[in-house]
Amino acid sequence: MSGSWSTYVIALVVLQVVACVVLLWYTSRRHKGEAEPEKTGHVWDEDITEYNKPLPRWWINLFYLTILFTIGYLVWYPGFGNFAGTSGWTSAREHDAAKAEGDAKLAAALKPFEGKALPELAVDPKALAFGKGVFANNCAVCHGSNAQGAVGYPNLADQSWQWGGEPEQIVETVLNGRNAAMPAWAASLTAMGGATAKDDVISYVRSLSNLEQPTSDVKERGQKLFGSICAACHGPDAKGMAVLGAPDLTDDAWVYGSTREVLMTGIEQGRNGQMPAHKPLIGETRARLAAAYVWSLSHKPVH
Ligand code: HEC
Ligand code: HEC
Repeated sequence: MSGSWSTYVIALVVLQVVACVVLLWYTSRRHKGEAEPEKTGHVWDEDITEYNKPLPRWWINLFYLTILFTIGYLVWYPGFGNFAGTSGWTSAREHDAAKAEGDAKLAAALKPFEGKALPELAVDPKALAFGKGVFANNCAVCHGSNAQGAVGYPNLADQSWQWGGEPEQIVETVLNGRNAAMPAWAASLTAMGGATAKDDVISYVRSLSNLEQPTSDVKERGQKLFGSICAACHGPDAKGMAVLGAPDLTDDAWVYGSTREVLMTGIEQGRNGQMPAHKPLIGETRARLAAAYVWSLSHKPVH
């Protein structure tokens, strides 16, 4: 609060308190020329008479007490303009204390899970329940409440992994994030295979998961283009490459979709999916617990 605002507030408060005292003092005494108590002259139902008496003393004193309380309160707590109060209380300090208490509780709750391996966490019902909660609060916005994914956000409950489904790979993905980089290929394709190149390679890719059966010359042209450009990342057999996050193009799991239109968009504009690093956001142990929950979805323990 600026100095002039503070002065303004202080003046208002002092004025109010003084006004209360004056009002109390003035109304609690009898004034000259006023009727004597019993004599207002108003009588109802023959025996109910209106008196005009000052408030009883103890009642008045209660009001004076509230005024004393006000003064004490403004000395003790901040509230009187910029005067900080003698108690040293501030909302920021109270918030810090509450936060420190919450952090300590969380740290204690996380302690038993610290540094444990994913498969170990994934068979511990407590760890899984914790991980499920972390997932619901931090991951479900993008991956869906059942980790089933959405367009552009991979399904985490299936067996198909872009960045690898081994425990260490999932932990790495969640802790440090992933940035997929698939450049736009339209120009290179056209330069290499002419006007039909984009359609040929799309037909070839879709044929890998039996979405269509192109004629053999289309397939051959597509396969050749795939081998020269796409195989570098997606692998010669199109099974994907986890270090690059290049998805398997032969299975029926698609991050972005499998229609010709969607594939065309990917080839023309590239794809740059980003999984944010969660270690800085929720800390290592919570990130590992979420990762354990994710891993458990595709690795049901055998009973
Ligand atoms: C802001 C959205 C967002 C949030 C929040 C998010 N993710 Fe992701 N995640 C993505 C995207 C997008 C990808 C795919 C990245 C790519 O295209 O390569 C991804 C990829 C992944 C993968 C790799 C999947 C694969 O097939 O290899 C895992 C595992 C994963 N996320 C787990 C999590 C977990 C666990 C959390 C919560 C702690 C989380 N994600 C929170 C957007 C998000
Ligand atoms: C430099 C490496 C690289 C090359 C070369 C490359 N890709 Fe990709 N591709 C990727 C990566 C990484 C992703 C994942 C993008 C993401 O998750 O945002 C991807 C994603 C895709 C997808 C989306 C898959 C899905 O599940 O939705 C298709 C389709 C695809 N690529 C086809 C191709 C084709 C066809 C070519 C050749 C013309 C090609 N890619 C060349 C790296 C590459």
